[in-house]
Order: sequence, then C-alpha cells, then structure tokens
Amino acid sequence: MSGGSAASLLPVKGIVLAGGTGSRLYPVTSAVSKQLLPVYDKPMIYYPLSVLMFGGIREILIISTPGDLPQFERLLGDGSAWGLRLSYAVQPRPNGLAEAFLIGAEHIADDPVALVLGDNIFHGPGFPRQLRAAIAALDGCVLFGYPVKNPGRYGVGEADGRGRLISIEEKPVRPRSNRAITGLYLYDNDVVPIARGIRPSSRGELEITDVNRAYLERGTATLIDLGRGFAWLDTGTHDSLLEAGQYVQVLEHRQGIRIACLEEVALSMGYIDADACFALGAKLGSSGYGEYVMAMARAAGAAG
Ligand code: G1P
Repeated sequence: MSGGSAASLLPVKGIVLAGGTGSRLYPVTSAVSKQLLPVYDKPMIYYPLSVLMFGGIREILIISTPGDLPQFERLLGDGSAWGLRLSYAVQPRPNGLAEAFLIGAEHIADDPVALVLGDNIFHGPGFPRQLRAAIAALDGCVLFGYPVKNPGRYGVGEADGRGRLISIEEKPVRPRSNRAITGLYLYDNDVVPIARGIRPSSRGELEITDVNRAYLERGTATLIDLGRGFAWLDTGTHDSLLEAGQYVQVLEHRQGIRIACLEEVALSMGYIDADACFALGAKLGSSGYGEYVMAMARAAGAAG
C-alpha cells in the first residue's frame, strides 16, 4: 500500500480494541493474547495499527484485558518510534465493543474517532487514500462493508444507492444482504453520548451494532463498499488465521514488499525520517523484517 504524505496531526483519535478471551483459539490463546499472535511475519496488531496510521491518525489508545495489556506496552511502547502517541487502557471484562467509547471517552475528548478491531486485517490498493477521504468527509458514522459467503457470523448492513445505511443487524439468522460490517468504524464526537445511552444486549454486551443503528436512525450512517479484489481477513479461527498468514506470505514473496510494516508506513506518511527508520531496522537485527526496514530507509536516503 502506498502512503502519501500527511504528516500533520489530524484531530481524529484512534482506538485499537484488542480485548476478548480468544476462546475460539484455545489453547493457543490460553497464555497469549490473540492480537499478539503472528500473522506470518509480524504480530497481528500491526495490521490494524497500520490502518489507523494510513488514515493519518497518530493519537491512538490501545485497549486490552488487564492480563494482556502489559504485553502490548512491551511490544509498542509509547509509539514515538513510529511518530505516534500511544496510550493504554484496560477493559476489565468482555462487555462488548461499544464499551471502547466509554473507556476511551477521555482520550476521544472533543474529537472524532476511528475504532479498529485488533484482529481485523485490511489490505487493498488505494485503501489508505479511500480511508483518508472518508475521514475528511466524516459526518455521522462511516462503516465499511465487505461481501462474504457467511454474513450471519458478522454485523450485516444494507445501503441505498447513495451509500446510506438502511438496515443493520448483528449476526442475523436470515441475513438481508451479504455485506458484513467490518471492524473499522469512523464516528463523529456524538459516539460517546450514544454509547452511554445503549444497554447490554441479550448476550450481555454493549453492541457496536446498536451504536451504528442510532446513527442509522438519525440518517447519518454511511456504508462504504470494499469491493471485489479487496482483502478483509478474519483471524477468528485456526483456519482463518492460517489463511490470513498465507495471504500475507504470498503477496510478500511475490512482490518483495511487507504488508503493515509500521516503520515503512511511518516513513511513507512522513511521521519519521529515513535515518530514524534505518535505526529502527538496525535494532531489529538480522531478521528479514529488520533488513527490509533498513533497505526501505536507504532507498529513502538514509545514510546507513
Ligand atoms: C464484531 C461485531 C460485528 C462485526 C465483527 C467484525 O463481531 O460485533 O458486527 O461484523 O466484529 O470483525 P465479533 O467478532 O465480536 O463476533
């Protein structure tokens, strides 16, 4: 994915929600957070983090469980290496995705916010530009829909010809469309009071779908289609996790690129300069990832 330069700090906050028990991946996730598992050559959370970075978002709150949060801090630190400002907050119990806006209310303050789920992988040409355009035009909420074979496993949305969301349901038994609502959500600042107003669903969670329905009822919910050829990959089962890794492996081998390489993204977005990028690569020693970062930095003019 190409970046483009957007070095200024957009007044949009980011949240990566990396909570949950990962119970569908037991015993793999009995002692390790799902979002820290490798997707081929890097930890899973690098992928959603790169999405926010491509969106021009640099002030990002990472939310995880009390047990897992220290590991994320160990991996990512304060984010300054990539020109980011990362902060951390705990979600004590898996009370639902919409709780992110209550936990993150102070972080969001008076700004719009982009929420990305820590286990969602987005990849496609033109996506960074599409995302920045959606953020620049944000009014209400923007959701991203993706055609899937098994929509009943997800939130499912329908849009009219102008991209206005006209229906949304969580894990419907009889889906009205094949458009899954992906785990990337853009909201104006009303999301905080809206989230405060919703009540737990029958499964005891504050549902993001109820937040989105509130925007639908106001007539300010947009559904952008991520069409054919785009990759929105799931990592919820052993098979889908492996398939996501294989997708990354195939593209990286074929093209000699690295998907969601945070150092390269930071460089392409102008968050760090070539010398800083080179130093990050050098710190990663003799791994192929580190060598790639150094090569990118050299190509951008680093002295090393
Ligand atoms: C959650 C949301 C669902 C969305 C999905 C995307 O489902 O509730 O609307 O489509 O994320 O990954 P979960 O994965 O928590 O079952």
